[in-house]
Amino acid sequence: MSVQLQPSAPAHTLPAFDAEAVRAQIPALHQSVNGKPLVYLDNGATTLKPQAVIDALLGYYAGCCANVHRGVHTLSQRATNELEAARTTVQRHLNAPEEAECIFVRGVTEGVNLVANTWAQRHVGAGDEIIVTGMEHHSNIVPWQLLCERVGATLHAVPFDDAGNLDLAAYRALLSPRTRLVAAVHVSNALGTVNPVAEMITAAHAVGAKVLLDGAQAVPHGPVDVQQLGCDFYVFSGHKVYGPTGIGVLWGRRALLEAGGPWHGGGDMIKRVTFEGTTYAELPGLLEAGTPHIAGIIGLGAALRWFQALGPERVAAHEADLLAYGTAQLAQVDGVELVGTATEKAGVLSFVAAPALGVHPYDIAELLDQQGIAVRNGHHCAEPVMDRLSLSGTVRASLACYNTRADLDALVVGVKRALSMLA
Ligand code: ALA
Repeated sequence: MSVQLQPSAPAHTLPAFDAEAVRAQIPALHQSVNGKPLVYLDNGATTLKPQAVIDALLGYYAGCCANVHRGVHTLSQRATNELEAARTTVQRHLNAPEEAECIFVRGVTEGVNLVANTWAQRHVGAGDEIIVTGMEHHSNIVPWQLLCERVGATLHAVPFDDAGNLDLAAYRALLSPRTRLVAAVHVSNALGTVNPVAEMITAAHAVGAKVLLDGAQAVPHGPVDVQQLGCDFYVFSGHKVYGPTGIGVLWGRRALLEAGGPWHGGGDMIKRVTFEGTTYAELPGLLEAGTPHIAGIIGLGAALRWFQALGPERVAAHEADLLAYGTAQLAQVDGVELVGTATEKAGVLSFVAAPALGVHPYDIAELLDQQGIAVRNGHHCAEPVMDRLSLSGTVRASLACYNTRADLDALVVGVKRALSMLA
């Protein structure tokens, strides 16, 4: 049903996860919406923030609010130290070989665009091929389409079956010596599928291709170790892992990041500027032009430390229980059809309800909102997934570590009530 992304201990050996203690640390959970206690199940879109992250943001703006890498004065030094401490946290969180390989970007979208406009721009040419999966978020499709248009390369998409399992045989058949890059989602935001990335990476490397993984929906749900995975680039967004919006991380192998050269030009990414020519800074500065989102980076560091303290394996085990429970409960509701029932799943319960009677996911989501239940509806920025399944969209309940079985009970009651009003 569901998996830990990279289990390091069997779930039954882990101490019980205290979701109520976690909930107490999330101020936004404790409010009423439309007169009902909030049930927040839109974590795939963004997670609510722990007090530790809010405090870190406030601490920067109220305290060492200075620019980084530029001043000898004390506040600037403090801000720089805090920012670089966050980079250390990221490096440890991903088990990246080097801090300098961890580049702060706005989120997955900017991270993918960075790779498309640097390494890929220089190393993918006319006649070359890029492979994505059929279940990508638009942010891992459109940058590659733009690149292919620029350089004359071809983009292929690996199909998936009706349950949402990737077709590994079709993937292997698409790989060839012309494949330069495989860009794949680690966990699908629309279906919850955990892709077989270990097999995909091994097969890609066998034909000389590099692999980029979109970890937006993987990092929040369990441990991720880029050295164990063996990928070449890994991207994730901070706000989906309890951090601030507008900040994320691209990790890439040093040799590839350096071979890609600069992208945005400006302050902090240079060694020396003259009108005759400019020389560039070392990593990570090379790829971090301009004043960074300092508060966001410090907040992301706080979020990852908070998540580490909870224990990514324990979070994965807790969410696996919720996913199994929610799946079983929803499957018993007359008219509900689960969308995305892959063998390996994390974090996502997508479904349609009474579509034959003309009930649209929007209607269900709106009626759930009236009951204080937050879910997402629509194509989830993954239109090819909906096209493949001949759907206009789904209702998506997506999980976080602070969710409980009671949240899923509320969802089931809410869906039944919505259906009784609509169908
Ligand atoms: N990509 C985010 C989601 O899946 C916004 O909802």
